[in-house]
Amino acid sequence: MTEQNLSSTEVPPQIEQPNAYPFNWYDDDPKLAMLYGRAKQENWDPASIDWDSIKTNDYEAIQRSAISYWWAVLANFENNAAAAFSKALVYITENHYDNATQKMTGTIVMDECRHDECCMRACNLLCPNFLKGWKPSNDLETKALRNVGWVYYNGGRYWKGYVRSYEKYRFPLIFTSFMMGEACASKLFHEMKEKTDHPAFKEAFTHMTQDESRHLAYTWFVLENAIPTLTEEERSLIPKRLRDGFVYLSMVLYEPPAEFWKLPSDFLSIHRKMEEIAMDAGLGVLTLEEKRNAWKSTILDVKRKLSKYDLPFPNLPEIDVSGD
Ligand SMILES: [Fe+2]
Ligand SMILES: [Fe+2]
Repeated sequence: MTEQNLSSTEVPPQIEQPNAYPFNWYDDDPKLAMLYGRAKQENWDPASIDWDSIKTNDYEAIQRSAISYWWAVLANFENNAAAAFSKALVYITENHYDNATQKMTGTIVMDECRHDECCMRACNLLCPNFLKGWKPSNDLETKALRNVGWVYYNGGRYWKGYVRSYEKYRFPLIFTSFMMGEACASKLFHEMKEKTDHPAFKEAFTHMTQDESRHLAYTWFVLENAIPTLTEEERSLIPKRLRDGFVYLSMVLYEPPAEFWKLPSDFLSIHRKMEEIAMDAGLGVLTLEEKRNAWKSTILDVKRKLSKYDLPFPNLPEIDVSGD
């Protein structure tokens, strides 16, 4: 329909912006459209994993709580990721990004729900109602549950900052910390799928690795498309955004730096103890040295790619990576 033959009263009024309308069905980037196609093909259901093959009696009580502890700490990053990408989806829609970017972002919301479901299922199986109602039976378990509460408290602080970041930055800058999250997650799950003893955990980590590597590719496509539009000021903010992502994600792929994390003084000793027990029980948790190497190689990949676009990188002395 053209507006040529319509009178002015017949032409629909302009839609007040920002707004989800008008929407479009055009793809700007064929690579993103292909990635969306891949997301649909790689669909999976956490309920189809044979969780019942994890026999609770095969584990001592402290092993069950240590495995639950690990999944509950991971859930700090998975549960809110669904909401974080939902917020991104609203932004992308209101700012009229192309069809493939919108649809691909929608698939990530569902993926993160699946990852959180794995956390929930593992905890419910081994320590039912782990987050609400499960009773610790010794001091270590009491402190471990307290640790989870502290991780979520810090997660809540990070969430507030994430929501505020939409008022301060354009989307490409917000995306740089997403990129650190996806790079961290795909590496972590890949390493754990190789190391875990149990087929159910291996299956969960295999799917999660596939999803996170797709998310990582997505964050690169979005950033690459945005690079020509970055101002000098935005480029100078990139190291800070990357370092923020590194510090936050270090809780799962290394150890939490004091720079952001507000934690009780014995947090780390309890955390290390529980991870060690979960590792001995065959969950596939990495040693500190393995984590350090995994984080470093992941970060160096990100650094190499960013340097191709002449984008600055932060100092990360924790893992011996120097910045620009
Ligand atoms: Fe995830
Ligand atoms: Fe992800």
